[in-house]
Amino acid sequence: MDPAGRVSYVVRHRVPAQARSGEAAEAVVSLRGAGVRVGGRTLWSGVDLDVGDGEFTAVLGPNGVGKSTLVKALLGVLPATGEVRVLGEAPGRASHRIGYLPQRRSFDASLRIRGIDIVRLGLDGDRWGLPMPARLSARRRGEQQHIAEVIELVGATAYAHRPIGECSGGEQQRLLIAQALVRRPQLLLLDEPLDSLDLSHQGAVAALIGRICREERVSVVMVAHDVNPILPWLDRVVYIAEGGAVTGRPEDVITTETLSRLYGVPVEVLRTSDGRLVVVGQPEAPAVHSDRHTP
Ligand SMILES: Nc1ncnc2c1ncn2[C@@H]1O[C@H](COP(=O)(O)OP(=O)(O)O)[C@@H](O)[C@H]1O
Ligand SMILES: [Mg+2]
Repeated sequence: MDPAGRVSYVVRHRVPAQARSGEAAEAVVSLRGAGVRVGGRTLWSGVDLDVGDGEFTAVLGPNGVGKSTLVKALLGVLPATGEVRVLGEAPGRASHRIGYLPQRRSFDASLRIRGIDIVRLGLDGDRWGLPMPARLSARRRGEQQHIAEVIELVGATAYAHRPIGECSGGEQQRLLIAQALVRRPQLLLLDEPLDSLDLSHQGAVAALIGRICREERVSVVMVAHDVNPILPWLDRVVYIAEGGAVTGRPEDVITTETLSRLYGVPVEVLRTSDGRLVVVGQPEAPAVHSDRHTP
């Protein structure tokens, strides 16, 4: 607990030398002229990006441009060109300080594993990808308390003991965010966490992630198909198009001028009366992998 009696759920791993020296904090994510090639094809290149401590960054762009690939490059599971630093280290070296939520859909309705066990798996080292059943021993008593606190933070206490297959999509997503948080990350990499949620759950889960970013000061890099649910929290965006990307503040990047220049074709950004942004005429990537749309 902090002096105000508030439970601190996410205890961050500070780099003491930086704090003592008073130097400007190192960027949480730093890309200089970064790019990735997969299958002999350059997806994007020439990307410069600095994500500061406690900032919320969105990775935007149409299907198939390489948004998930960017996240994988930050994790070090796909090689990148140019300079990529994550939490001051080469990609893959700081995985224990990163919480990762892969792009996925829902759990099978017949899956009997409880939500709390899914969350606990987040503590079990660097096992990226879909959570899998594991033999769970009664180790480390303090962990139980911490897991309960993180589940409370995401508002999942009421259903954490239900089989995850019986939880709704929004409930499952909260539990998976708890799984990513349980290792007390400094950086959350979230790949389309709002995908497959209905509008009201999108808003609630976006607000949860925004709150974790602001109040717990965990930096967030989040791939999103629709920027609108996260607009209130965004500090910066990476907008990827075929071959290139622009980075900057949302109000500078998500504009008719910038996106038309990025795509090389006229694209229009409209603001609706309720403040939502709509991008009209955004081309799809040429090689779209369409698993999003498969049943
Ligand atoms: N390991 C890989 N090997 C070959 N092609 C890949 C690999 N990973 C992704 N791709 C391809 O790269 C493109 C971008 O993928 P992805 O990053 O998943 O796009 P997005 O997340 O923006 O929809 C797709 O055409 C995909 O098929
Ligand atoms: Mg993707």
